[in-house]
Formats: sequence, C-alpha cells, structure tokens
Amino acid sequence: MSSPSATDRLIVALDMPTVEEAQRLIVTLGDTVTFYKVGLELLFAGGLDLARALKRDGKHVFLDMKLLDIGNTVERAVANASELGVDFLTVHGHDLKTMRAAVSGRGASKLKLLAVTVLTNLSADDLKQQGVSASPAELVVRRAVLARESGFDGVIASGQEAARIREAVGPGFLIVTPGIRLTGSSTDDQERITTPGTAISTGADYIVVGRPITQADDPRLAAETFVNHIADALPPSGALN
Ligand code: C5P
Repeated sequence: MSSPSATDRLIVALDMPTVEEAQRLIVTLGDTVTFYKVGLELLFAGGLDLARALKRDGKHVFLDMKLLDIGNTVERAVANASELGVDFLTVHGHDLKTMRAAVSGRGASKLKLLAVTVLTNLSADDLKQQGVSASPAELVVRRAVLARESGFDGVIASGQEAARIREAVGPGFLIVTPGIRLTGSSTDDQERITTPGTAISTGADYIVVGRPITQADDPRLAAETFVNHIADALPPSGALN
C-alpha cells in the first residue's frame, strides 16, 4: 500500500448493529470501496469473522479496537490481533508504555499500528473537564510525537490537526482522519470536522467516513463522491508526503 489510489484512501466505517446489514452495504458499495473499518459495535456481533471474510475477498481491513490497558495485556492482545491478517489496528496513544508494548506484540507481522490521539467528538471544553489545559490540537501533536517515538506507523486525528502533526512528525508517518463531512452536511456528534479535500490537502493519508455513506439514500453514489473529493485533493503524482 505505498502510494495508495484515491479509492484506497477512503475507509468506510461499518458502524452497524449486525453483520448482515454490513454485508448488504458491502455488496451495494461493490468496487467503489476497497477499505473497511470494523469497530466496537460490530465486534460484539460477529465483526471479527466479517473482518476475516473481507480479507479473503481482497479488501483492506482496519480493526478499530482502541485498545488501552496495562502493557502486558496490550502486548498479548496485539499479538493475537496480528494473527488475523488485518491491515490497521488502533491503540489509544496516551503513553509510551502502552504503545511500546503494542509494538512488541506486533512482532514481525505487517499489521500497522495507529495511535488514537484525541477522539474527534471531544472539544477543548471536554478536555478541560478532565483537568487537561492543553487544546485538542496541542494534545494531538504531543501524542503523535510519542506515537512516532514508540515505533507506531501513524495516528488517528481530526483533519483540523493534520498539518500540525505532519509538521511535527515529518513524512512517512500515517495520518488517518475521521470526522469527515462534506460542506453543509450534518455533523452528527462530531466536533472537530473537516471536508475530505481539506484533510487530504493538509497531510492526511486516509479518511474514515461512516454515517455520511452508511446512512446515505444512495451509499454507492456517496462513496464515489468522497473518492472524487480525495482524487481532486491529491497531487498529480497521487503520492503524498
Ligand atoms: O459516522 P462518522 O463518519 O462520524 O464515523 C466516524 C468513525 O470514526 C466512527 O467509527 C468512530 O468510531 C471513528 N473515530 C472517530 N474519532 C476518532 C477515532 C475514530 O470518530 N478519534
């Protein structure tokens, strides 16, 4: 996946209650979508079997497990997750100990580890409530630097922070951005949103899109629209960084 196409840079979040609904959507999306994210909702309804099936069908899979525990537990969880053959796995990027343990658990497998920096539904006020005086962007950049230092492959962050992260960590480190919305559409519960074009043109490598595609009247057309926005924002070579 070095220099992925515009299509490969769109990750559709399969946030739905059942595998059957997810499978219906996958059939509807067809070749328009090559990369799927299986998260916590589907995990408890057969999501891991779906992840394996998607890999057998030649799709890329992002397992969004947002792991956070003591190092020993994270290390063993990542070691088992790496046996699934998926492409991306998330771990909360709060501290070096957890992330170094995850890197050790991954061993020699090709699994890419992504650190969740600050969830995109959190604002500066939410951080203040926790006694954190840093702004979301400051905390995101700090955690991105720790993630790079620990041997992670990239981070999850809002497109609003992509440029600052890229400046801090340099090239060759993945920035994956959820909280993506087209201009004028509903923000749902997201706080730090950006358009696909802004995310890609300011340094994001991949965008994660859920409800704007899964709940669209025509999900395939919606996915095509997102791919077109990505393609328009890519440099002519198609390569980023
Ligand atoms: O429906 P929507 O496009 O808002 O979905 C965004 C997806 O990205 C969800 O699956 C959510 O769990 C995930 N995510 C996020 N913010 C993060 C990390 C992951 O919204 N920081």
